[in-house]
Amino acid sequence: MRRMSWFASVAAVALVLTACGDDDNESTTEGSGGSEEEASGEVEVFTWWTEGGEKAGLDGLVSVFSEQCSDFEFVNGAVAGGAGSNAKQVLASRLQTGEPPDTFQAHAGGELLDYINADQLEDLSGLYDEWGLSDSVSENLLDAITLDGAIYSVPANVHRANVVWANPTVLEDAGLPAEAPASVDDWLADMQTLRDNGVDAPLAIATDWTQTMLLEAVLIAELGPEAYTGLYDGSTDWASAEVPAALEKYGQMLEFANADRAGLDWPDAVNKVTAGDAAYTLMGDWAAGKLDADGLELDTDYVWWPSPGTDGVFQWLADSFVLPVGAPNRAGTECWLEVVGSEDGQREFNTAKGSIPARTDADPSDYGPYAQAAMEDWASDALAPSLAHGSAAPVGWIDAVNSAVGQFSTSGDVGALQEQLAAAAQ
Ligand code: GAL
Repeated sequence: MRRMSWFASVAAVALVLTACGDDDNESTTEGSGGSEEEASGEVEVFTWWTEGGEKAGLDGLVSVFSEQCSDFEFVNGAVAGGAGSNAKQVLASRLQTGEPPDTFQAHAGGELLDYINADQLEDLSGLYDEWGLSDSVSENLLDAITLDGAIYSVPANVHRANVVWANPTVLEDAGLPAEAPASVDDWLADMQTLRDNGVDAPLAIATDWTQTMLLEAVLIAELGPEAYTGLYDGSTDWASAEVPAALEKYGQMLEFANADRAGLDWPDAVNKVTAGDAAYTLMGDWAAGKLDADGLELDTDYVWWPSPGTDGVFQWLADSFVLPVGAPNRAGTECWLEVVGSEDGQREFNTAKGSIPARTDADPSDYGPYAQAAMEDWASDALAPSLAHGSAAPVGWIDAVNSAVGQFSTSGDVGALQEQLAAAAQ
């Protein structure tokens, strides 16, 4: 029931937020924290950020935490695996056995709803008022982390999912400009040109969730952002005629992709592009953090553009941190969350991570050219949520789609894929 009402309620929630004020300050800042454990000062922060720009971003947060929360000690509870493929399983079993970390990373939107519905998160709205966050966090993010007037996490950033990263030299060698093809059809034609020029697998992809991202980008391009978003709130039918047409095109794209995809994580796909073995990969802009950490230069070593056919659409997701019910070190976690929401914390995090701040008062000149462009697009583009990264739907739905997409990678059966996608939405 709550899941059904969530999408309908998000618009209303923004209004409620303005009206409801701080009526719950007390109950959100006191509660079940174990004061004995607090003496140890350890704060276990659970993420899946273990290398490259992701780790550098986390380190940035930790450096501000160490300064501003010096009574406490950061403990890294990270579990490696892109997009939390392993971490979410470990987290689920810890939550089930009542052993939550002090805080964990969760995506704003549908994914957060899983934890909210299971009563695993505390309401942070009192802390929002204390820290002035209600006025400084982007409004559409506030909507995505709020339910019935309660706010359940502190967003650290906004990432863009619909981004293609390309190798300009590989394109040039095949006689192609380092510019975005106008549509999925044009992109497919360019892939054929690349293959004719000796690039066997011009499109680099990796394990199932990266394929889900590609599928989402094709769906946005073919259906448009509104009808695409409707796939998650029920206003667009997964069984409608435009869906298989898009799935066919997605299937054609896979024919130009690397066969070893199932065993790869997203950095491997990016590496294929920068090594010149592929021309393109589609990946969220944590890729910008990785490329930066690898010492590569925009325009020389790589170029980027919104996935063909999605120019003017910002497919968004946001990493946020929560206060789990029963967090061992409540005071330390609150200090972590305050850092996550702060200007300093977000600058140190996002300048390394490839994302843009969740706050609206950041100084763009602290950021590089990619992030500056992303900030402008976030403010002006049409928005679309990400399924693979939790802004569109809860985890069960995401898992079902990833599994369907993984099967399609070997079967190529469009009918079966459509059926499974429709079933996942039930
Ligand atoms: C996403 C997460 C990003 C990035 C990515 C790849 O789910 O929001 O911050 O970490 O996974 O691991």
